[in-house]
Amino acid sequence: MRAALVKYAGSVELKTELSSHIKPVDIITKTKHGETLSQEEIFGWVNGITSGKVKDYQTSAWLMAVCLRQPPLSKDETVDLTLAMAASGEVLNLDEFGIVADKHSSGGVGDKTTLVVAPMVAACDVKVGKMSGRGLGHTGGTLDKLESIPGFRVDLNKEEFIRQTDKVGIVVTGQTGDLAPADGVLYSLRDVTGTIDSIPLIAASIMSKKIASGANTLVLDVKVGSGAFMKTLDEARELAKTMVDIGRSIGMKVIAEISDMNQPLGEAVGNSLEVLEAINTLKGNGPPDFYEHCIDTAAQIILLAGKAENMEVARGLIERTITEGTALGKFRDMVRAQGGDENVVDSPEDILSIAAPHDVYYEGEDGYIGEVDPMVIGLTAMRLGGGREKKGDSIDYSVGVVTKCKVGKQIKKGDLIGVIYTDDQSKIEESTLAIQNGITVGKDFVAPPPLIHEIIE
Ligand code: URA
Repeated sequence: MRAALVKYAGSVELKTELSSHIKPVDIITKTKHGETLSQEEIFGWVNGITSGKVKDYQTSAWLMAVCLRQPPLSKDETVDLTLAMAASGEVLNLDEFGIVADKHSSGGVGDKTTLVVAPMVAACDVKVGKMSGRGLGHTGGTLDKLESIPGFRVDLNKEEFIRQTDKVGIVVTGQTGDLAPADGVLYSLRDVTGTIDSIPLIAASIMSKKIASGANTLVLDVKVGSGAFMKTLDEARELAKTMVDIGRSIGMKVIAEISDMNQPLGEAVGNSLEVLEAINTLKGNGPPDFYEHCIDTAAQIILLAGKAENMEVARGLIERTITEGTALGKFRDMVRAQGGDENVVDSPEDILSIAAPHDVYYEGEDGYIGEVDPMVIGLTAMRLGGGREKKGDSIDYSVGVVTKCKVGKQIKKGDLIGVIYTDDQSKIEESTLAIQNGITVGKDFVAPPPLIHEIIE
């Protein structure tokens, strides 16, 4: 499959320049009027964006036309856009190593799933070659979490990425070199032109990078809920289906799970704190919701990779990687291979930098928790210094929040509801109030939402 794409990516059609008789304004106007764009036009347009021949003001106008277009970009147009974006830079080919798995989360609060799922999968002899991103706003990023391990490198080059996938069977790093540069241009313009929230643009952005980074087996974790990009199940379903269709169109093995983000996943939110929770989970001592989510995602990956005949068997194999310690062993292998201090596995609290804890207590009426607002928790961690308000901001790995609240839990005045980690006394009061106000408590029991809403195949 990858070879086919690489061939395709290098082909004359994908390298098409915008024909001299087609002007940028024609592409923008056609898009605005809902007229179908041909493959040649889309490839030419994306090449023009990458080379700079198409100017930022023209790209911005086109992005707005895509967002507002009725009917929206078709499946074929979205696939062509994705392939043109993937082919705008280097396209890695990992097919020589057989099945190489990847996972992608659309972003959430407390989502440290990769840190546990990748070792679980690798421990079942399925190679994991993953490129991750950084956090922005209320959502965290895997690279920032990994960088809280002293010495851990997330800047591997292409050769190091390929060698580690082959020899160690697990690698999680930042994007290498020149991957999908068209997405770099488009994403930075979307960010400042109010054109982020378009399903074809989000799907093409995510899938172009996934295709270019070389894995051939992919489980997408599309989050839905108040703390996610996608607020409704319908939107999440549409995004998931669009991305699955794109992957399938080039022969990738891909499914999507739609998982809940109406409350933080697990307890820890903040970089070092999340690494600590991930290591505890690999040792069998993780929060139940986070552990269960990891088991599910990892089982989906090895099922897709053909390592089990059904989900029950897959779950059994994954659970064994925890009880037998093999997933923890793979995590150690990855930390060592990427230059991190592997003592973090045995004594995480001594190695990770963690700020001073401050307990937060509940002060309202007794009852049941109905909501734990993930935005409030995510933004509190960000304001403590653990996240970025804008791209490029520096962050503090040691700060964050550990929440002790889950929807459906019974609660009474004086109960511990969270712990704030900061060395900055001036931030304690504001963060305490935010956490207290971030939960809603009522007299009646509220059933917790399902962890996984549905699977899109
Ligand atoms: N993540 C991406 O990589 N691109 C988007 O457009 C949205 C989320």
